[in-house]
Amino acid sequence: MFQIKNLEKSFDDVKVLKNINLEIKPNEKLVIIGPSGSGKSTLLRCLNGLEIPTKGEVLFEGKQINSNSYQQLHGDIGMVFQNFQLFEHMTVLKNLTLAPVLNKKMTKKQAKRQAMEYLKQIHLEDKKDVYPSELSGGQKQRIAIIRTLMMNPKVILFDEPTSALDPEMIGEVLSLIIEVAKKNITMIVVTHELHFAEQFASRVIFMDHGEILEEGDAKTLFSNPQTERLQQFLKNC
Ligand SMILES: Nc1ncnc2c1ncn2[C@@H]1O[C@H](COP(=O)(O)OP(=O)(O)OP(=O)(O)O)[C@@H](O)[C@H]1O
Ligand SMILES: [Mg+2]
Repeated sequence: MFQIKNLEKSFDDVKVLKNINLEIKPNEKLVIIGPSGSGKSTLLRCLNGLEIPTKGEVLFEGKQINSNSYQQLHGDIGMVFQNFQLFEHMTVLKNLTLAPVLNKKMTKKQAKRQAMEYLKQIHLEDKKDVYPSELSGGQKQRIAIIRTLMMNPKVILFDEPTSALDPEMIGEVLSLIIEVAKKNITMIVVTHELHFAEQFASRVIFMDHGEILEEGDAKTLFSNPQTERLQQFLKNC
């Protein structure tokens, strides 16, 4: 699905990604962990064309990601951000139906029906006419997740989807992500929630200083870290 070859990304003269090589298979559930500033968000943003590599390449289904990709791939590659990024001046229902209708993926009627179905699944159908400011953080993030599903994406990228939430709301968002994982969607999640990673991930990668330092299945990686850097990181988690 993604092939990342010798990827490097610099801002000014600072290399924030160095020599990243990674292949992500269709339907894989990948978790990315690592300390602040290690390049996790930058790597995610290189996958959907929000950042363009300084060197190397990122291929999505064999095609190189470039500066036009973000718009083109908007339907295929969904993204969920730490701060939700819902449209504050639109109701929940409008937030959900806007993109699929604008992109002619569905008629207004189809989009409404699909949106209501997703809202029922997350028990928020009574919120369809409210504005995001009236929702809790956990509700906003669950709406943001079903909003990406409305586009029927092949991939969803999650950048720390629970780190802006109060502790009691983290569980409901992680449960939804685990529910979504049952679908045939490639999912890549940056998170600090290690218990979730064990339940969810088919593979975990650990980044430090712009490089992939270790990778493997969650249980092995967490119980038997090979580098001192990962041992230290896990201790502080
Ligand atoms: N647009 C930008 N311009 C300049 N520097 C940037 C830019 N985006 C990121 N950086 C720098 O690149 C490095 C990696 O940032 P990135 O946001 O990818 O880290 P991260 O692992 O996601 O960290 P966090 O866990 O805090 O979100 C940081 O030193 C950051 O300051
Ligand atoms: Mg980040």
